[in-house]
This record gives sequence, structure tokens and C-alpha cells, in this order.
Amino acid sequence: MKIFLDTANLEAIKKYNDMGLVDGVTTNPTLLSKEKGNPAEIMRQITKIVKGPVSLEVVGTSTEEMLDEAHRLKKYGQNVVVKIPMTADGLKAVKKLKQDGIETNVTLIFSANQATLAAKAGASYVSPFIGRLDDAGQDGMSLIREIVQIFRNYQFSAKVLVASVRHPLHVVDAGKIGADVVTLPPDILGKMILHPLTDKGLTAFLNDWEKVKKENPNLSI
Ligand code: G3P
Repeated sequence: MKIFLDTANLEAIKKYNDMGLVDGVTTNPTLLSKEKGNPAEIMRQITKIVKGPVSLEVVGTSTEEMLDEAHRLKKYGQNVVVKIPMTADGLKAVKKLKQDGIETNVTLIFSANQATLAAKAGASYVSPFIGRLDDAGQDGMSLIREIVQIFRNYQFSAKVLVASVRHPLHVVDAGKIGADVVTLPPDILGKMILHPLTDKGLTAFLNDWEKVKKENPNLSI
């Protein structure tokens, strides 16, 4: 399972990229609105920091606007994947962009049928938003189960990118189902590193080592 960071925060991207944990990045207008600085420059920087795919989202709503923006965004970096909303105009843009050799990530997916249509239009990634479904009283993870099964049944090449992730258990469940990618807010990736028993165990090891050093004052390793 690949791990993408769902953020436009350069500091967080650098931090986790230095740990070898970032296979790619997804951004959206809301995430960019949270950062200080020129959004275009931030997007360019992200494509330089991360080797893997970086999803940058269009804001136009007509096919023509999306295509224009997609071609401009693609110039931000070789690894740019253009994020397109799940609309009729969006699907038309996806088809055209595939013909132009530009990868797309279809966003705002809330049903298995939407995911199927995005895959058929030629998307490289489909992004179902599971947390927002959970928030609305539906089971977001069931949607991932359905999409993964349908894509397997018909050998669709589009990758299932689990988005709107709210907690580490979502990541475990997505992995068990076999989703291709999870995109995580940095705080969730941070939580995945931690376990109280790891801290407790390390404290005990270090305390015991202090005792060993007292008995062997010249010891060094
Ligand atoms: O990439 C977009 C998606 O992950 C949004 O998440 O938390 O705004 O529902 P959220």
C-alpha cells in the first residue's frame, strides 16, 4: 500500500519525506488555503521535494477550463497528476487528458458507480472520500470494499486512492481490503508512528542500561 500525504504544508512534507514515508502528495484548494505564501509556488515546491506523484487540483468547472488548467499545472513538475472533480465535464476532461498523456486523479467520489465511471473515462486514480461518508452516517470503508472488488473483477487499471482519512484504523482497514493508496493528513501519519508500549519499553531499556554503565564505568558501545 502506498502512502501519500494529504497536505500542502511544505514543512510536514519535508519531515515525513526525510523518513522515507511519502510515496506521493495530494493537495486541494482547501489545503492550499491553509498555507501562507503563493499557492502556485507552494505547488511547484511540492513537486520538487517529492519524487512520486503530486496531485494538483483544477478549479475550473467546464471541460475547457479544466483542460487549460491541467496543461498549465502539468508544467509545475513532471510528477504532476491533475485532480479533476467527479462531474460530467470532469469525465470529459479526464478522457481528453489521457489522450494527451496527462495522468488524472478523480476527486470527490462518494459512490462505486462514480468510481467505475472515472476508471472507464481513463483516470489513473480515483479518490473516494471515506471520512466525509462516515460523517454523513454512511460506512466509508464499505465503499472502498466495493470499489476494490469491482476494479479487480474487471482489471481496471485505475488505482484506488483512499481519501478523507480520519484516523489510523482507517489505514489498517484500507490495507486489509487491498486499496492501492491512502492519502493521510500529516497528524495521522504522526500517530501511526507512536505506540505507548514502544515508549514504555524504550524507557525501561535506557534505565537498565544506566545500571549496566554504573557497574562498568568505562563501557561504551
Ligand atoms: O484530498 C482530499 C480529502 O482527503 C479531503 O479530506 O478531511 O477534507 O474530508 P477531508
